Amino acid sequence: MVSASLLFLLIIGQSPLVVSLQQTRGYKPGHIVGVSREKQHLYDSNESDLTKWHCLDHEDIVLDLSQINDGICDCPDGSDEPGTAACEEDIFQSVAKQSSKVNKYFYCANENFIPRYIRKSEVTDGICDCCDCSDELLSDYKLIDVGSNCSQLKKEFDDMVSTELLRYREGKKVLNGLEKKYGIQEDTIVRDGSIEEDKQRVSNEITLLSNRLEKDRVKLDEARRIYFDQLENQDPILYRFEQLNRLSLASEIVNSFVTVSMVSKCYGSILGILNRLSEAYTPSLNDKVVNDNIKKFKKTKRRAEKAKIIADSTIDDEQSENLFSYFTEEIPQLFLKRESEQSLRYVLGKSNFVQALIEGKINYTNDILEYIKEYSAIMDDISKNYNVNFQDAGVKSAVDSYNNYLDEYGESIESGPIHPSENLLKLLNEVTTFVNENVPKILPPDITEPKQGTNNDHMAPFGGLRTKLSGILSKLNLFSFREDLVSLEKQFRFYEMEVKNLDLELQLKKARKEILDDSRNEGNNATAGKLTELLELMGSQSYSLEDLLDNYSYTIRFQHPMIEGTIYQSENKIAGKKVLIGRFKTLGFNAELNMNKYMEHLKLTYSEESDLTSHLAGRQGDDDKSQHYIFGNLNELNNGLVLEYENGEQCWNGPRRSATVFVRCSNTFKIRSVHEVTKCNYIFDVTGPLGCNKTFEYEPPKFNLGE
Ligand SMILES: *[C@@H]1O[C@H](CO)[C@@H](O)[C@H](O)[C@H]1NC(C)=O
Ligand SMILES: *[C@@H]1O[C@H](CO)[C@@H](O)[C@H](O)[C@H]1NC(C)=O
Ligand SMILES: *[C@@H]1O[C@H](CO)[C@@H](O)[C@H](O)[C@H]1NC(C)=O
Ligand SMILES: *[C@@H]1O[C@H](CO)[C@@H](O)[C@H](O)[C@H]1NC(C)=O
Ligand SMILES: *[C@@H]1O[C@H](CO)[C@@H](O)[C@H](O)[C@H]1NC(C)=O
Ligand SMILES: *[C@@H]1O[C@H](CO)[C@@H](O)[C@H](O)[C@H]1NC(C)=O
Repeated sequence: MVSASLLFLLIIGQSPLVVSLQQTRGYKPGHIVGVSREKQHLYDSNESDLTKWHCLDHEDIVLDLSQINDGICDCPDGSDEPGTAACEEDIFQSVAKQSSKVNKYFYCANENFIPRYIRKSEVTDGICDCCDCSDELLSDYKLIDVGSNCSQLKKEFDDMVSTELLRYREGKKVLNGLEKKYGIQEDTIVRDGSIEEDKQRVSNEITLLSNRLEKDRVKLDEARRIYFDQLENQDPILYRFEQLNRLSLASEIVNSFVTVSMVSKCYGSILGILNRLSEAYTPSLNDKVVNDNIKKFKKTKRRAEKAKIIADSTIDDEQSENLFSYFTEEIPQLFLKRESEQSLRYVLGKSNFVQALIEGKINYTNDILEYIKEYSAIMDDISKNYNVNFQDAGVKSAVDSYNNYLDEYGESIESGPIHPSENLLKLLNEVTTFVNENVPKILPPDITEPKQGTNNDHMAPFGGLRTKLSGILSKLNLFSFREDLVSLEKQFRFYEMEVKNLDLELQLKKARKEILDDSRNEGNNATAGKLTELLELMGSQSYSLEDLLDNYSYTIRFQHPMIEGTIYQSENKIAGKKVLIGRFKTLGFNAELNMNKYMEHLKLTYSEESDLTSHLAGRQGDDDKSQHYIFGNLNELNNGLVLEYENGEQCWNGPRRSATVFVRCSNTFKIRSVHEVTKCNYIFDVTGPLGCNKTFEYEPPKFNLGE
């Protein structure tokens, strides 16, 4: 007998898949289409007449076994059609809630891959939704889209998992490195019940610190009062000098030089990458992008050499240190002791030189920045457009180095010109003017150089003698009370430093307590504590993420304490508008958001040529509506880190701006995308090592590897 289905088979060809169709038509115990192995037994006959069967949820309705999966819905609970779309989908919605027997979804066995449940509406529609096409076995449609088979998917899945695990391991490595770099200890905070213990410990520390600070403040006030009383009476010049805020000046200078030194490092780094590249690449491969850019680099480098561009962070750091001690020790000691090993002219010359050096150096940094930008643009073009197929090891290694370079210096490349702060210029000017006016009053005059044409030869020794004399005299006169002043000054400075350090420490502890106390931070436990600490330490070195997306530049800046962190959005043009998106509020973990974001990432990364990810979305077996993903626990390689920001600038006619920053595990920090979810509320997709779950162990899903 030539059946209709055989005819169908002849029409659509000889695919092995369709051959099995013929065998599945009709009732075959243990092989009911759309039913999991565990539930097959429900379709065995349970009647005295072994050709009969009753609906699973309606024992009174008895059918022939051949009516199972025959394409006609006979049972009110739909149980006779587990492998076709004959029964209305809503039947299952209500029935499956009460019955654990009736499956709401179609079961794909997917031999060689991962079994999953799909919706009944996807069954027998001409499209294979199961990789074994079991959902189309009972179909009368011609197959439109077969898709990848299960063996293929298994291979793609394994590749995906190994790529993801590699990315995870690299991210974790960087995270460990960061923790080491910033001295976060493995187990100081991670203890059982650590949250409460931590709170208690921090509270105790705050009390202790506050007490010490209060006592030291009293001592400081006393020391200051005595010192200044003495000073006012006995040394008006020093008294006025003390009114100048030279500590603040010194720290402004150090701050500026941190930037200067970083720019120098950045310059050295990019120049090194390009120098190595220009030696290591293979010109004969004729990768136009690479060859043209190397030419451009050599031209730029020659120009830099002509302009005598020198950037050396070691020199910068040394200068910074010297300047600091100049303003905090050398000059104060000069006024305090009223003597110098150097001549007056030297002292004055140095004072003017220092002023010019500071201004000039900061200014000069902008020249270096210009070259950094040019070099970076060259590497940028190469890394985006070089021909991957040429497999040029020199180029590949340069591109890798460039990516690391971006992680480290990305923000400085984007930064505009650097200026000395107004406060710095003002303080510098005050101190320099004061020194120039007053040093001649406290130091003996120099031996005057003999002027030409005048008969001064005999004056020289006389001048020298007078200088010596006045030196001795001033020492004699001042000796007794100078000693006092020096020791008073020492004491005053000592307490000043003590108070400053204690105050800083106390502020940090308080910020830490605030985070621990924040009850909305439910996930805030040991991991959160460690990440917060790490972010703060990074913040204390002004760490920030900056990326350009859709013509806007976004900057996520971490601070110490964390609560001072901000996100800004700037228009990427000259004099563009800059808007505060939010201030840091809390740090936590969100497993659900992680799942959504991770799936988004997998789809984007692995679905270009494959339908793998669509085979990873499964329905729950029985009565759970929600979709889930069947890739084992792969999503847990992310810790689900979420940073919340609030209280940004008010939107026009709207709420204040706010943002959620989701961090996905990766070895590189980067802002990947920004979406405005609701009016003035943004979600940032960021990658970075902080998003890695350090305790993650991969558990694969259950594969169906046959019997
Ligand atoms: C067969 O039916 C009886 C009564 O209806 C029930 O108690 C029994 O569990 C059933 N057996 C199977 C295998 O479903
Ligand atoms: C699955 O597809 C691949 C590639 O099309 C093919 O080589 C392989 O034989 C197929 N496997 C099965 C079991 O059909
Ligand atoms: C800084 O550089 C600009 C332009 O190169 C120049 O006009 C200015 O005078 C410089 N300022 C100082 C203090 O060197
Ligand atoms: C801390 O939070 C992380 C992320 O939510 C979680 O994985 C971990 O199990 C938690 N640890 C404790 C001790 O609660
Ligand atoms: C970015 O700006 C350029 C030039 O103004 C414009 O052509 C482009 O469409 C903008 N892109 C987006 C995504 O807004
Ligand atoms: C981290 O991984 C472990 C083991 O795989 C898991 O138990 C834990 O829940 C994960 N943490 C998070 C935050 O997902």
